Amino acid sequence: MDKLLITGGNRLKGEITVSGAKNAALPILCASLLTADTITLDNVPNLKDIGTTLRLLGQMGVQSEHSNNTVQLSAAQVSSLEAPYELVKTMRASILVLGPLLTRFGEARVSLPGGCAIGQRPVDQHIKGLEAMGADIKIEHGFVVAKAKRLKGASIRTDMVTVTGTENLMMAAVLAEGRTTLENAAREPEISDLAELLNKMGARIQGHGGDRIIIDGVDSLHGASHRVIADRIEAGTFLCAVGAAGGEIVLRNAAPETMGAILDKLQEAGLAIECGSDWIRCSMHKRPRATGFRTSEYPGFPTDMQAQLMALNTVADGTAVIVENIFENRYMHVQELGRMGASIDIDGHTAVVTGVPQLSGATVMATDLRASASLVIAGLAAYGDTTVERIYHLDRGYERMEEKLRSVGANIQRLTREAA
Ligand code: EPU
Repeated sequence: MDKLLITGGNRLKGEITVSGAKNAALPILCASLLTADTITLDNVPNLKDIGTTLRLLGQMGVQSEHSNNTVQLSAAQVSSLEAPYELVKTMRASILVLGPLLTRFGEARVSLPGGCAIGQRPVDQHIKGLEAMGADIKIEHGFVVAKAKRLKGASIRTDMVTVTGTENLMMAAVLAEGRTTLENAAREPEISDLAELLNKMGARIQGHGGDRIIIDGVDSLHGASHRVIADRIEAGTFLCAVGAAGGEIVLRNAAPETMGAILDKLQEAGLAIECGSDWIRCSMHKRPRATGFRTSEYPGFPTDMQAQLMALNTVADGTAVIVENIFENRYMHVQELGRMGASIDIDGHTAVVTGVPQLSGATVMATDLRASASLVIAGLAAYGDTTVERIYHLDRGYERMEEKLRSVGANIQRLTREAA
C-alpha cells in the first residue's frame, strides 16, 4: 500500500490549480444514464472514485472515454440495471445510479451500501422519496430492488438535509410525469452544478441552490456538454495547509463564491485572504489563532473540512471547540493527531483542541478521505518526519495531492507499494 513521507517545516509558496469537484462529478457521471445521447464533461478530476464510477457505469453498458480531465459518456445501450456489491461497497456514492436507472428504465437493482467509517449513513430518504413518486421498492438479498412503470411527480420533504438524497430524487424527477417538489433540499453548490447539467439536457428544474427545488418532468433528455465546478474542499484543504505550515499561495481555477464559511473561518484563524472570481490568494506569517466551529449543511461550515481545520487548530494559539453535527463518527483522525503531540479531548460530538506550539512527526494511519488530508496538513506543520499510511483513502478524493504540495515547496513524497 502506498504511503506518504512528509518532512515538515517548509513554508508553502507558489501556485496550485484546483481540480474539479469530486462530489459534483460523481452525480454528474451518473446523470449520463438519463439519456441515450452523448454527455461530454470537462474538469473531471482524475481520482479513484471517478474510476470506480466509470467501471460501475461500464458494467451497465455505458460507453465512456476518459482522457486527461475530459469524459465522454454514452448510455445508448444499457444492458444491465444492476449495481453490484463489489463496487458499491468501495464507494457509497454508487447509490446515485438508483434514481436515473429507475426513472429511465423502470427498474433498478442497487446493492445497499454497507457500513462506513464516518457514520451509519443510511439511504432511507432516497427510498422514501422514490416511493412517494410511485416506485415499488423492496430490500432483497442486500439489494434495493426498485420498479415503477413511470414515476409520478410528488411533493417530498426529506427528514433531514441529504446531499446525495437530493441528487438522486432530482435525477429521478426529471423524467417523471408531472411536477415534483423537493422540500428541505440540500443547497450545496454540487447540487446546483448537477441541476445545471440536467437543464442543459432538457430538464426543467428551478430553485436549485435553495431548499425548495421544483422539477417539471419531461419525456426525454438529450446530450449536453458541461464543465464540472471547482472542488471547494480541495481548495480549502490547501488553505488549511498554508494556515498550519505558513507561507503564501495562490489557488487558480477556484470557486471562492462557494467557499464563504471556509474563508470566513480561515480569516478568523489569521490568514490573509484575497479573492477574484476564480482565484484565491492567501498568506500566513504567524501562528494561527484557535478557531472553533460547528459543521452544518451548506452554506454552513462543511463536515468535509472539519478534520483539516482541526489539524490547523492543533498548532494554534488558544483552545478551539469543534462540534461535528453531520456524521456521528467523524473524529477518527483525533487519535492519530494525538500521536503527533496534538492535545484534543472528545466528548460525544464535541472536540476541544488546545493548540501546542509544534507537532512532532510520527507514523500515522489514514482512516478516511478527509482524515487523511488532516494528517498531511499536520505532517507539513510538524517537526521531523511523518509517514501517512493507507493513503488509498486520499487517492479517492484528491488529485495528485503530493505533486501539488511539492510544487509549492512541501517536502512530501509517495512511497509506492514496491518502495514502501
Ligand atoms: N442520512 C440519513 N438517511 C438518508 C440520507 C442521509 O439518515 O437517507 C443522514 C446521514 O447519515 C448523515 C446526514 O443525513 O448523517 C447527511 O448525509 P448526506 O446524505 O448529506 O451525505 P451523503 O450524500 O452520503 C455527501 C458527500 C459527503 C459529505 C456529505 C455531507 C458525496 C458523494 N458525498 O454524502 O462527502 O460529507 O454529503 O456534506 O457528495 C467526502 O467527500 O469526504 C464525503 C464524505
